[in-house]
Amino acid sequence: MGCSNGRNALYLGHLGFDVTAVDNNIGAIEMLQQIVSQEGMSNIRTQLYDINNAALGEEYGFIGCTVTLMFLDPARVDAVIADMQRHTRAGGYNLIVCAMSTEAYPCPARFPFTLDEGQLREAYEGWELLKYNENVGTMHNGAQLQFGTMLARKPG
Ligand SMILES: C[S@@+](CC[C@H](N)C(=O)[O-])C[C@H]1O[C@@H](n2cnc3c(N)ncnc32)[C@H](O)[C@@H]1O
Repeated sequence: MGCSNGRNALYLGHLGFDVTAVDNNIGAIEMLQQIVSQEGMSNIRTQLYDINNAALGEEYGFIGCTVTLMFLDPARVDAVIADMQRHTRAGGYNLIVCAMSTEAYPCPARFPFTLDEGQLREAYEGWELLKYNENVGTMHNGAQLQFGTMLARKPG
């Protein structure tokens, strides 16, 4: 979700998974499609899609949304997470990494959306949290902020 030019999609594709890679940036999708075609990878499908629509069309075993939620319409984030959860197969996984803004580390970047403390954990109540932390990270410009990082498994 928010695949850009395919950092995660190409990695998963090379591991042999069937991948659907979505982004609303036509330039990024075209670049990824070009790489996929050049590499002859028939297991990666690219798709222009606005995540704010919260309307995934099918079920997946794994949905990854890394450093993307913070660019979405804040009013749509709950619906987007609920849609990811609905479209994950029983026993399947969601991976989310998203910037936070907290009292200790107010987010220094002007993202439309940031997670509150514990927000992601709460949204995934009932799922098995295989990894969850809200650690401090450093952006490319040296600014420090917390990131919510979560790998969760849907009950089987
Ligand atoms: C920082 S990049 C993250 C790329 C990738 N997920 C990764 O971890 O390498 C954020 C991506 O989210 C995409 N994005 C932002 N808003 C979006 C939206 N409403 N629908 C789909 N993609 C969106 C951007 O076009 C961009 O490619």
